[in-house]
This record gives sequence, C-alpha cells and structure tokens, in this order.
Amino acid sequence: MTDIDWDDLRAAATEAMQRAYAPYSRYKVGAAALVTDGRVVQGCNVENASYGVGLCAECGLVSELNMSGGGRLVAFVCVNGDGETIMPCGRCRQLLYEFAVPGMLLETVSGIRTIDEVLPDAFGPRDLQAHGGTEAVQ
Ligand code: THU
Repeated sequence: MTDIDWDDLRAAATEAMQRAYAPYSRYKVGAAALVTDGRVVQGCNVENASYGVGLCAECGLVSELNMSGGGRLVAFVCVNGDGETIMPCGRCRQLLYEFAVPGMLLETVSGIRTIDEVLPDAFGPRDLQAHGGTEAVQ
C-alpha cells in the first residue's frame, strides 16, 4: 500500500465540511477517503427540516465513491467545523465497512486505527454471501 498523506486527506475533508448544510445542529462535518485507484472522494452532512432524515457526511462520500467509478476505501478521515478530526458515528462505520479494503485505515481521535478496530466483529457482505444472497465482492 502506498503511503497515505493524512494532511492532504484532512484538507480534503475540511474542504468538504465547508459545503455542509447543517442549519439545525450547526455542526458541520466533512469526510474524505482515499480510494484504491488513487482518487479522493468526499462528502458533507446534509440536514433536513425533518430532522431524522438528515444525511451524514459519510453518506455523500459512499455515494460519490460509487458515482465516480467505484473501488474500495483505503484511508478515511472526517472533521468537524473547526477542522478537528472526529469519529464517524456507528451507522457510518457500517457504511464505510461495506466499501473498505481489508485493514482500511482511519485517522481517529486516538490515532490511526483500522476499520476492524473501530467496528469489531462487523456484520458485512460475507455474512450474506454465506447464504448466497449478495453480489458484493468483499
Ligand atoms: N454527522 C456526520 O455527518 N457524520 C458523523 O459520523 C457524525 C455526525 C453529522 C450528522 C448531523 O448533521 C451532525 O453531524 C450532528 O450530529
């Protein structure tokens, strides 16, 4: 695996954060990830007047991943409105897991961690494959 430029990835997340639509929580989030082919995908949170349907930044990121050619996530970081690294919420760890390379790295509040460290014993595509029910490749 190539070296990961965390400063570059955090800058991409911070840029995405500036496009967040968070008038309700006033908590902007931006996310960025390095993809297996070298491109960088981003996302920002997009809230809604119907609070519960708001979208986390990671939702936009995995959508962009698929829209821009697919691939797997190699490294990920998300930041708040102050540009500080934050943890992806539980639901978003699951979103990331779906598209993660084995051992995907995250910059976290406690240093660089793997996806397996932040989502241990994850349920994933393999569990469905065992029952013949998915086309996912993980
Ligand atoms: N948020 C994200 O975008 N990603 C996360 O992983 C944590 C939370 C957003 C959702 C909501 O718009 C705001 O942060 C406050 O919870």
